[in-house]
Amino acid sequence: MAFHLLTIILVIVGLLSSFGSSFDPSPFQDFCIAANESKAAVFVNGKFCKDPKLATADDFFLAGLNVSGNPLPGLGSSVNSVDVNRLAGLNTLGISMVRADFAPYGLIPPHTHPRATELIVVIEGTLYVGFLAPDTTNPMKTRSFTKILSKGDVFVIPQGLIHFQYNVGHTNATVFAAFNSQNSGLIVVGSELFGSNPPLVDDVLSKAFQLDKKMVATLQGLFS
Ligand SMILES: *[C@@H]1O[C@H](CO)[C@@H](O)[C@H](O)[C@H]1NC(C)=O
Ligand SMILES: *[C@@H]1O[C@H](CO)[C@@H](O)[C@H](O)[C@H]1NC(C)=O
Ligand SMILES: *[C@@H]1O[C@H](CO)[C@@H](O)[C@H](O)[C@H]1NC(C)=O
Repeated sequence: MAFHLLTIILVIVGLLSSFGSSFDPSPFQDFCIAANESKAAVFVNGKFCKDPKLATADDFFLAGLNVSGNPLPGLGSSVNSVDVNRLAGLNTLGISMVRADFAPYGLIPPHTHPRATELIVVIEGTLYVGFLAPDTTNPMKTRSFTKILSKGDVFVIPQGLIHFQYNVGHTNATVFAAFNSQNSGLIVVGSELFGSNPPLVDDVLSKAFQLDKKMVATLQGLFS
């Protein structure tokens, strides 16, 4: 009897936790436009909400994805992102987007978004995109999942995994991507490790990547 009760409790807990992680948390209100002023505001999810009575259509609007965004120096790519910091109406809604543009052979280098899955659609050009995931049979090994994408092709990058996009065509390329977070976060692997301030002790990087210390210093110079 006790065994059956325990089994039932475990099944219920399992179901609840799988429901809990299978969709985004619901917002507590229709909207919560991020506001800077704290007067007459509610503090939710990291931002103050604007008084809903003062909301206007412009709080939910942004012009400017018709053009490319900030260039990534030396990489031949640029990023124009629309997150809660730029479009205050996204606050608490669990969604954001980006436009990325690539010159021929332009690259968005290996990076992760700690808080979001990314869904990419190619609008123009030909890109080599992919992500890395641990090999479940050996955590010290990695599998890569890559595709060549053309106009209209869609690719999904699971949350938190290291990924990249590289323009393999002779023409410019443009993609749009959606994130299931209002603020997906960005960790660029190379600069994170070799460009930190203050720099990591070179023993750590030398041993981790099996590089001599001169090479570590060279990389730290390149990324800082
Ligand atoms: C909040 O303040 C910052 C810095 O003054 C400004 O750049 C930003 O546009 C403001 N955001 C909103 C939603 O008013
Ligand atoms: C892009 O959109 C902005 C805002 O609507 C507009 O001012 C600008 O002229 C447009 N630029 C191009 C190149 O279409
Ligand atoms: C490619 O993009 C660059 C930078 O935006 C632009 O100057 C150039 O005209 C584009 N080339 C073509 C063929 O569209």
